Amino acid sequence: MERTTYAGLVDEKYIGQTVKLAGWVQKRRNFGELVFVDLRDREGIVQLTFSADQEAALEIAQKVRNEYVIAIEGEVVARAEGQRNEKIKSGGIEVKVTKAEILADSKTPVFDIEDNVNAGEELKLQYRYLDLRRPQMQHNLRVRSKIMSSAYRFMEEHGFINIETPYLAKSTPEGARDYLVPSRIYPGSFYALPQSPQLFKQLLMGAGFDRYFQIARCFRDEDLRGDRQPEFTQLDLETSFLSAPEIQDLVAHWVQQIMKDVVNYDLKVEDIERLTWQESMDRFGTDKPDLRIPFEIKDLSDVVKDSDFGVFKNAVKDGGVVKALAVPGAADHYSRKEIDKLGQYIERFGAKGLAWLKVEEEGLKGPIAKFFDEKAASELMEATGAKVGDLMLFGAGRADIVAASLDALRRLTAKELNLIDQTTPWRFAWIVDWPLFEYSEDFDRWIAAHHPFTMPNEEDLHYLNEGEDPHKAHAQSYDLVLNGYELGSGSIRIHRMDIQEKMLRALDFTPEQAQEAFGFLLEAMEYGFPPMGGIALGLDRLAMLLAGQDNIREVIAFPKNSKATEPMTEAPTPVDAKQLAELGLEADPEDTKK
Ligand code: AMO
Ligand code: AMP
Repeated sequence: MERTTYAGLVDEKYIGQTVKLAGWVQKRRNFGELVFVDLRDREGIVQLTFSADQEAALEIAQKVRNEYVIAIEGEVVARAEGQRNEKIKSGGIEVKVTKAEILADSKTPVFDIEDNVNAGEELKLQYRYLDLRRPQMQHNLRVRSKIMSSAYRFMEEHGFINIETPYLAKSTPEGARDYLVPSRIYPGSFYALPQSPQLFKQLLMGAGFDRYFQIARCFRDEDLRGDRQPEFTQLDLETSFLSAPEIQDLVAHWVQQIMKDVVNYDLKVEDIERLTWQESMDRFGTDKPDLRIPFEIKDLSDVVKDSDFGVFKNAVKDGGVVKALAVPGAADHYSRKEIDKLGQYIERFGAKGLAWLKVEEEGLKGPIAKFFDEKAASELMEATGAKVGDLMLFGAGRADIVAASLDALRRLTAKELNLIDQTTPWRFAWIVDWPLFEYSEDFDRWIAAHHPFTMPNEEDLHYLNEGEDPHKAHAQSYDLVLNGYELGSGSIRIHRMDIQEKMLRALDFTPEQAQEAFGFLLEAMEYGFPPMGGIALGLDRLAMLLAGQDNIREVIAFPKNSKATEPMTEAPTPVDAKQLAELGLEADPEDTKK
């Protein structure tokens, strides 16, 4: 039976017509002489009716169970008044079935195929092909597909050339840990799966392509979170001869088109805010601020440096900071116990405590209120902008710990109190003027804040000279932030070997190490490299946001779980000793048992 349309698309327009449909049985209600079946396909659900006047069809209907695959032919009729279902597109009609056929039967699914089903994520990932039948998942992957089509179309129209770069590449110390692929032909040698196409796209600019685009898979062996996967996809571009503002303008128009095509949102390019990195850190404690949240972090270090409250005074004395949030209307919302929970929540960032004050008609209330006389209290209120009914939350100590803690509390309290301003649902921002380097606690040394090929600001180039402090330099890099997520990251690149060598030296590469890791790039720069810059947007994150999800696993067909395994196929798995031997490798039997 050849289908005439999708089940989910049949509506009043079809009344009186004969349709042929195929799909899955969502639900069956059996009244003996009359059977109702909800038929589901990728577009939605339509109600089928089987009755005694079509005996053969009715017999089939008696046999079907949930998730059977069936094909039917029937006539579209209007539903009786009072039996309409306004929730679905096809709710005004039903299909009176004249012919039916079972194409495949099904075991009882391990969970019901519906959104908000009560099944653990692990089970859903193990039976991902069932999970993906849910309407939300069908929607999510289509959002993702639409983003890709829209992105390609814009790139095509703006003269970008699609070029694929290798997945079997060279291990280069770019940032994260590499996924390695052993070479059979050269035992003991390894390819690395690319963390991004960064070096290749720079070389393509060197090759004169001028505008490169790729939807590229990237691989990073790092700790996973809700917005991170070990393999993820970038919308990756690179251009020659454009300045940073020109690239940002191009990207803004690109994103504008995607927002229109995918969620029918009219983004005004001039509404994309621009913050320097410093301003973002000062006001929001993060380099990816959620600008929909209508309250900001205030620096109180000056106000409290002589405070009677030892925690505050000592924090400033020891070279730290004291900062605060005044969460609007939160005083009544949080009990003492709940505030203690907030305090526990920020321990993960190294916070030693969470001082707080409630602003009431009579004045400040809370265990530390006694340290603030009337004058000190009004200074606090003025500096934080707090009003009666607000809850002040304080961070005192090392600037980075305070920033991370108050950023987290700002996001959490805004969510819990429903304070996220939805008048502009999509708040984009460019974060610019980044430090060139950042200190990594993990590696216990300075690393490139973006990557080692990022061009310093023109006026900061001298900081890379010997004898100067390179960590003072800022970079020509820019991040695109959307609703509190880092959507993309880019920069102008170093295109001159002398600057690149200085940069690598500042990162503590000896000339020999630099040669070994990036010799091919340094050499290429000696053959006429154009000025260049680009960006990569995280497709998974963009799809997550545009599909209204809060985890990127929801927009990836077959993602890894938070333990970096894939529950359906159970990857990664041990392999044959023979396979290993061919690669010149050996696994520890203790490891493979686990
Ligand atoms: P960066 O490393 O910042 O830049 O990555 C660019 C964007 O990719 C997304 N992203 C991720 N998404 C999911 N899971 C991950 N583990 C993950 N890591 C990154 C983010 C991020 O903003 N070559 C440079 C780009 C450039 O300079 O052109 C790069 O890879 O959305
Ligand atoms: P203490 O004097 O240690 O009993 O702390 C008094 C109050 O200050 C408690 O509410 C603590 O949670 C809070 N507090 C302690 N250390 C800090 C800190 N580094 N930042 C913010 N509040 C703190």
